[in-house]
Order: sequence, then structure tokens, then C-alpha cells
Amino acid sequence: MAKLYHIVPLTFGSIRGSLQSTVAFLITIFVIAFIYFARGNGGLFDQKELLTDNSTSQRSTDPNQSSESCDLSSGKWVFDNKSYPLYKEEECKFMLGENACKEYGRKDMNYLHWRWQPHHCNLLRFNATVLLERLRNKRMVFVGDSLNRGQWLSMVCLVDKVIPPGLKSLHYHFNHSLTTMRAEEYNASIEFYWSPMLVESNSDDPWHHLVPDPTVRIKSIYKHARHWTNADILIFNAYNWWNRPFVNTLWGTFESGIVKRVEMLRSYEMGLKTWSDWLEIHIDHNKSQLFFMSMSPSHKWGEEWGKSARENCYNEQEMIKTEGYRGNETDPRMMRIVEDAISDLGKRGLPVKLVNITQLSEYRKDGHPSIYRKHWGALSEEQLSKPTSYSDCTHWCLPGVPDVWNELLYTHIFS
Ligand SMILES: *[C@@H]1O[C@H](CO)[C@@H](O)[C@H](O)[C@H]1NC(C)=O
Ligand SMILES: *[C@@H]1O[C@H](CO)[C@@H](O)[C@H](O)[C@H]1NC(C)=O
Ligand SMILES: *[C@@H]1O[C@H](CO)[C@@H](O)[C@H](O)[C@H]1NC(C)=O
Ligand SMILES: *[C@@H]1O[C@H](CO)[C@@H](O)[C@H](O)[C@H]1NC(C)=O
Ligand SMILES: *[C@@H]1O[C@H](CO)[C@@H](O)[C@H](O)[C@H]1NC(C)=O
Ligand SMILES: *[C@@H]1O[C@H](CO)[C@@H](O)[C@H](O)[C@H]1NC(C)=O
Ligand SMILES: *[C@@H]1O[C@H](CO)[C@@H](O)[C@H](O)[C@H]1NC(C)=O
Ligand SMILES: *[C@@H]1O[C@H](CO)[C@@H](O)[C@H](O)[C@H]1NC(C)=O
Ligand SMILES: *[C@@H]1O[C@H](CO)[C@@H](O)[C@H](O)[C@H]1NC(C)=O
Repeated sequence: MAKLYHIVPLTFGSIRGSLQSTVAFLITIFVIAFIYFARGNGGLFDQKELLTDNSTSQRSTDPNQSSESCDLSSGKWVFDNKSYPLYKEEECKFMLGENACKEYGRKDMNYLHWRWQPHHCNLLRFNATVLLERLRNKRMVFVGDSLNRGQWLSMVCLVDKVIPPGLKSLHYHFNHSLTTMRAEEYNASIEFYWSPMLVESNSDDPWHHLVPDPTVRIKSIYKHARHWTNADILIFNAYNWWNRPFVNTLWGTFESGIVKRVEMLRSYEMGLKTWSDWLEIHIDHNKSQLFFMSMSPSHKWGEEWGKSARENCYNEQEMIKTEGYRGNETDPRMMRIVEDAISDLGKRGLPVKLVNITQLSEYRKDGHPSIYRKHWGALSEEQLSKPTSYSDCTHWCLPGVPDVWNELLYTHIFS
């Protein structure tokens, strides 16, 4: 609307007095009516339509339209089976079992066809060639837990189809802590570094990390950071492994240190301090672009969307349609701590962009693998008879929600 108002003085600048204001008034009415009817249903504030309108508004390729000032995280999901999914699960060469829902038996297909539409601007259209060009002679490294690995995989799948076979490869380094997808033509790499709590912990072994009550070595990050400090684009995350009431917090070494059970928020704050202090000293401000992904929500409690307490994301084929919905495992206090750590780093001269994916993912109870993924252990008869008991309501199917996280990331990289 702001744009249309500018037309008024331009077109009618020479008309004076009351005629001018009358014309301006009529145009205003016309503009309002136009916007009202252009929405089709006339229901500007209709809750039900908020998330299911499937008008195919074209996305912008002009970075100026996706201005930094617009909140990309506030918007709605729009059904769009023309452009989505952005790739096919079976065509992504590097697909992993924990995200390959179709391969592991998921039959419903609706979850594949949703586009995120911010309320006041557009996301940039993801262009794999443009991204690879941006990464020429560079490293893009995702650092964090398995949700971050899912986002890494989504990024790999998004660029996979524009790289000819034979010119891409996957490598493992440092005992599989680092996974690297290389695009040879570009000398570019898209990497994932496993460190689920960012700082050192006893969950750092990429093979044997399922420690029920992990211990963080709160002041130490060097063991990990030396492998990613020189990267050109860094994407961090850290929530799920911290999200428990108390965290075993270690000062000193694992062999001869002092461990205390510390209230999680306090420990989390200390961990992020270690992380931000490292960045402040070691990152080349002119070279690297830094991002932190906000919390990825899970859908473990059917009660929260009106089902029974025993149900979860299993069999969910539709999203939650209440605007602003928030599950109870999403902890705003943790998000505040991340925001504070980032804003403090900004004051110390190092900008980190927080990419807010929490709200848009909250709606997507239909986006998790549930039982349709690779399961590591054999499942018992009892489990098999009760699918909810082994449903994965934390990770995401690919193609799916993390593709949209990467569209947000892409928009920020080029803004
Ligand atoms: C999308 O739009 C088409 C035609 O305009 C309509 O038939 C269809 O039901 C809509 N789908 C959804 C999910 O709203
Ligand atoms: C975006 O805006 C800047 C300054 O306002 C301008 O220099 C640039 O050419 C614009 N980019 C595009 C793609 O329009
Ligand atoms: C998209 O969905 C609409 C409504 O469900 C359907 O009529 C149409 O055939 C679908 N198009 C494609 C390309 O799948
Ligand atoms: C991606 O960008 C390249 C280079 O700017 C352009 O040639 C190509 O048409 C774009 N692809 C799509 C699908 O827009
Ligand atoms: C290839 O990329 C790496 C960074 O990943 C860079 O250090 C190296 O100089 C590049 N090689 C060439 C030939 O540009
Ligand atoms: C690699 O991981 C294995 C399995 O946890 C472990 O036994 C081995 O010591 C590790 N090797 C190195 C060099 O860290
Ligand atoms: C970063 O760029 C600024 C301005 O161009 C320059 O003054 C500064 O020395 C650079 N810093 C590094 C670490 O290269
Ligand atoms: C969320 O709600 C469920 C039941 O509705 C409850 O069992 C669970 O403990 C709650 N989780 C948190 C973190 O409050
Ligand atoms: C993300 O956005 C939601 C809603 O727009 C907001 O409630 C939340 O605080 C934001 N999270 C962060 C970490 O900024």
C-alpha cells in the first residue's frame, strides 16, 4: 500500500484544493477495496485461511524486495504443488536414512507441497547455480546437532541436481566428525561438523553419542572450532541436547576436572559465552558470514493440538493452523539467551544473523518422519504394535521443512 500512495501526488500533483483531496480519498478507497478483493475470499483476518491459501504469488528474484527490515519468520504456509518439492527424495544422491521418509514407507504426499510466504515480503527464489558461484573456492560449514545435519543435507540436495555426476563427492574427516560434500567445478564445499552442544562434551563421538545425561566441558571449544574457524559461511545450532532441567557441567578435563549439575539456562549461557569468545578472537570479520538457526520444535505431545496424550506426530498429515501456535518444548528463555549472546557479539564487532525458523516449523506437525525412517536398533514386537512408541517427531522429512530453512538462509546470504 505504501508504494501505491506515492502514485497519488505524482499523477494528481497539479490538481488543487478539495478536488485533489477528493480524488486522493477515492483512490484510497479504491486501493483498499482492491486489496480486499484481491485476497479472493475477502477474509483478511480469517484464521482458517491463514495457512491454507494457495494463491500462487510469484517469488522475487530481486534482493531489494526481501529487505532485511522485513520479518521473514512471520508468515503462512501456502499450498504450492507447482514449485514444491524443490527436489525429489530419490534423486538426491546423498540422502540419509533418518530423513528419507518416502523410501521408508511414507505414502501421503501433501507434506511435500508447501511454500513459506512471509507476510510482508518474499523469500528469494533458491538458485543452486548462484549459491555454488557464491561458494566458489569457499567452505560453507554447518556446525551442530542432527537437526543441523538435516539442514546440511537439505542444502546438499538443493544443489545436487545442478552438479554433474563425477564432479561431486562426499568425504569424512576427523573420525567422521566432519562430513564434506565437494563440488569440484567450483572448488566449493558444503560441510557438516558434529558437535551437538557446540562446546566439547561427551556426546562428541559421531558414532557413540547417545549419552543419556551428557556432560559439557563448558570452557572448551578448541577441539571442534579449529576445524571450522576458517570457513566462509558458518551456520550454528544448539538447543535439543541442552533442553533438560540440569546439565552436568565440567571445568577442567574429562580426566581430572570438577563436574557440577548446573541449572540448564545458566550452563547454556556459559557454553554460548565460550562459543562467542572464540568467535570474537578467531573469526576474520571481513571474510566470514555467520548464522545461528533458532530452535527446531518437535511434536511429541498430541494433547497440545487436541488429541489424546498418547498420540504424537504419527499419522499427522496436516499442519497446525492456529497462527502463533507454540509447543511446550519450545523454550523462549533459551532463545533469549541466544539473542543476548548474539547481540553482545554484535557490540564486540562480529555480526551473527539469527535465522528464526521456530515459528514456521511449529505449524508443521506433518513434517516429521514418525515411523518412516531408518531405525538404528531392531524394533521389538511391542514397539511395532504401538507405532507412536518409536515415532521420530523431532527430525524432519526431506524434501520438507529444512528446505525452507535453507531458503531463509539463502535470502539472508544474498541480502
Ligand atoms: C488450491 O486452489 C485450487 C484452485 O484454485 C483449489 O481447487 C484447491 O482446492 C486449492 N487447494 C488448497 C489446499 O487450498
Ligand atoms: C538494490 O538497491 C540498491 C540501492 O538501493 C541498488 O544499487 C541496486 O542496484 C538494487 N539491486 C537490484 C537488483 O535492483
Ligand atoms: C496440484 O494440486 C491440485 C489440487 O489438489 C491438483 O488438481 C493438481 O493436479 C496438482 N498439480 C500437480 C502438478 O500435481
Ligand atoms: C539461476 O541463475 C542462473 C545464473 O544467474 C541463471 O542463468 C538461471 O536461469 C537461474 N535458474 C533458475 C531456475 O532461475
Ligand atoms: C579451493 O578452496 C579452498 C577453500 O575451501 C581454498 O583454500 C583454495 O585456495 C581453493 N583452491 C583454489 C585453486 O583456488
Ligand atoms: C574414532 O572413533 C572410534 C569409535 O568411537 C574410537 O574408538 C577411536 O578412538 C576414534 N579415533 C580417533 C583418532 O579419535
Ligand atoms: C577488515 O576490513 C577493514 C576495512 O576494510 C580493515 O580496516 C581491517 O583491517 C580488515 N580486517 C581484517 C582482519 O582483515
Ligand atoms: C509438555 O506437555 C506434555 C503433556 O501435554 C507433558 O507430558 C510434557 O512433560 C510437557 N513438556 C514440558 C517440557 O513441559
Ligand atoms: C522467532 O519468532 C517468533 C515469532 O515471530 C518469536 O516469538 C520468537 O521469539 C523468535 N525467536 C527468536 C529466537 O528470536
